[in-house]
Amino acid sequence: MTATAVAHPNIALVKYWGKADAQLALPATGSVSMGLDVFPTTTTVTLDGGSGAGAEARDAFTLNGHVVEDGALVRVQQFLDLVRELAGSDARASVVSENTVPTGAGLASSASGFAALATAASAAYGLDLSARDLSRLARRGSGSATRSIPGGVAVWHAGDDQGSFAEPIPAPPMAMVVVTIDAGPKPIGSREAMRRTIATSPFYPAWVTSTTETVGDMLDACAAGDFTRIGEITESNALRMHATIEGAFPPIRYLNARSVAVFDAVGELRAAGLEAYATADAGPNVVVLCQPADRSAVATALASFGDVIESGTGPAARVLRSEE
Ligand code: PMV
Repeated sequence: MTATAVAHPNIALVKYWGKADAQLALPATGSVSMGLDVFPTTTTVTLDGGSGAGAEARDAFTLNGHVVEDGALVRVQQFLDLVRELAGSDARASVVSENTVPTGAGLASSASGFAALATAASAAYGLDLSARDLSRLARRGSGSATRSIPGGVAVWHAGDDQGSFAEPIPAPPMAMVVVTIDAGPKPIGSREAMRRTIATSPFYPAWVTSTTETVGDMLDACAAGDFTRIGEITESNALRMHATIEGAFPPIRYLNARSVAVFDAVGELRAAGLEAYATADAGPNVVVLCQPADRSAVATALASFGDVIESGTGPAARVLRSEE
């Protein structure tokens, strides 16, 4: 069996930062995101025995044409173990992935990566999962991948293993401009940074209580089609997340001077009448939320800060091909 799937990254409007259960990848709070229509990941899973034979047999993983042997292979194998458990199979697989997201730059490459892997692997292993169960499965690979299964504007519910999945919500038309300040790998990955934040940041309990409220406010703003409110909440929640992370010890700081300059520039655009709001994930790059009619004006205004890429609202993850 072989199956190929495609998934897109998403950018959280209300962030996920911190797990309630690391084993099951249950988040401490809900979160809300917009899926992008750029930077797709296309992944093929083939049940061909992987590499090696007998007791030496293991899954094989090729990313952007390079054979992967390190921690990323371990994460893929552990994820496929979950799929094998669901499918009652012990077949080893080859995974071939083309990821167009700048890997590790805080642009959620793991979101599209694990959403595409979950979609392709469940098809290759013959699982017929509902969108909800596929989202729950993707969650075990990377939290933000949960929201790349539905695409569009989505809420990921906090809850237990059954209840923690993402689903689409109604929202007004929106666009994003990704300002890539630094496409290199980030200094500390989100898993370790979340652990350290929970263990040492005195602001973490306040982050959990305030974000739980913020998710409700964001759902109301989306249902009302209130773009201004959505934007205000988005920028505020991003800054609260970064403040919470900066409160860890030793401190972790993802935003650099150029990132902060983009936040300032976005504030100046607003003052000049162009409605735009900034957010940033676990890295220095800044993503700017705006209305679709304003995206090229925003991109032009921010082009001096780095590479700018415009995005509309993206589609759900889907199987492209599947064969016996
Ligand atoms: O999916 P993870 O474990 O890489 O966590 C992603 C966390 C943020 O991107 C910073 C926020 C979010 O909600 O996507």
